[in-house]
Formats: sequence, C-alpha cells, structure tokens
Amino acid sequence: MKKIPTAVFSEWAATGRDEPMAKGHEKAVNNMLEYVLKDKKNFRFIDAGCGNGWVVRLVKAHNNCAYAAGVDGAQKMIEKAQAIDPTGTYSHADLSDWMPTDKVDIVHSMEVVYYLSDPKAFIANVHKNWLNEGGCLIVGLDFYKENPASHSWPEDCGVSIMQLLPEEAWVGFFVDAGFTNVHSWRVGAKDQWAGTLVIAAVK
Ligand SMILES: C[S@@+](CC[C@H](N)C(=O)[O-])C[C@H]1O[C@@H](n2cnc3c(N)ncnc32)[C@H](O)[C@@H]1O
Repeated sequence: MKKIPTAVFSEWAATGRDEPMAKGHEKAVNNMLEYVLKDKKNFRFIDAGCGNGWVVRLVKAHNNCAYAAGVDGAQKMIEKAQAIDPTGTYSHADLSDWMPTDKVDIVHSMEVVYYLSDPKAFIANVHKNWLNEGGCLIVGLDFYKENPASHSWPEDCGVSIMQLLPEEAWVGFFVDAGFTNVHSWRVGAKDQWAGTLVIAAVK
C-alpha cells in the first residue's frame, strides 16, 4: 500500500534515512547554491521541502545571508531540524498552500516539487507570493522522464504521488508562471544516470 510523500519522509527521518539522502544530494545542491548565491548580498532564503534542514544551516552560515528558513510537510523532518538547530526557523506545512509572511530573494528546492499534486500551481504561487522582484527560484529533480533509472521509485519507495514529467514540461511551468531567464542543466550525469535536472529562473 503506497503512502503520501510526507508520511514516507517522516518515517525516513525517524529511521535516519534523511542523512544518507542529504549526502546523496550534496553534489547537486552545491552546484545549485553556487549558481544562485553568486553576487547575492544580504539575501533572504527559503528551502522548500527542507527535510532535516541541512541546506538551511549551510546557507545560514554564508556571509551574505540575512535570513534562511525551511519548510517541510514531514513532521519528523521538522522535529529533527529543530533538534539540531533550536534557534533556526523551520515550519511544518504543506507546500501546496503555504506562503511566507515576508517575501524572500531565493527559493531553493531539492528533490521535492514532483511530490506535489499540482507542481505547476506551486511554481506559480512561489512566483506570486514567495519571491521579491528580481528573486530566484531554483529546483533540482532526479525523477523526470529523461532519467529512466529513476522511473521505478514510486514502486521502490511506496510513494503515492510522484509526477513523472519531461524537462520541457518543467521548464514550461516556470515560463507560464511568468518567470524570466529560465535556464536548465544537469548535474552528475554518469552511465545510466541522466543527472539531476536543475531549473533556475528569475521573477
Ligand atoms: C526527497 S526529500 C528531500 C529533502 C531535502 N530537500 C534534501 O535534499 O535532503 C523530499 C522532501 O519533500 C517533502 N515534501 C513532499 N511533499 C511535500 C508537501 N506537499 N509539502 C511539504 N513538504 C513536502 C518531504 O517531506 C521530504 O522531506
């Protein structure tokens, strides 16, 4: 019986699987942060689907960071983030209907957006309600049409919602939301693995 993504990832946090997952995402996240933080001064940052909060803590330590926060729908991921970093800002919420009180300059999201039932609506909501003018959204995706090595994950991980879409559809969601400078590239392609699909764009 498959479970909703946040239930699966709460179990992953409880059993320590969040840590190897974070390690596995490190290379792509470093590439994404290098791209998106370049030349940013005094920036405000949110990690959407922050898991145990490791990217929030990484960015918070950056000299030019004014604010970094994380939001995730898995209760145990957020409990873990708060236990590691009691003064950090971590919210337990569903990304489909959450928005920050004050807008930010960067929204980062690694391996999250395809778990949403309506990723197109989420991307439009980030554009409208999360980002300042000139702000950036950057997402990383390992589960996508051009990466067949990932296609068995819904069965392997017992997750009920996973949207398998081609790169063109993901890029189209950004364009339709009103983003400009939409760029996509892949990180870590090797043998049968097509790499992490990264999409970045500006409001
Ligand atoms: C593959 S994990 C990635 C976590 C983190 N970004 C990382 O790289 O370690 C996906 C995360 O998205 C969260 N997530 C999935 N669907 C969500 C939703 N509808 N609302 C909020 N969080 C969600 C899960 O709880 C999980 O922590």
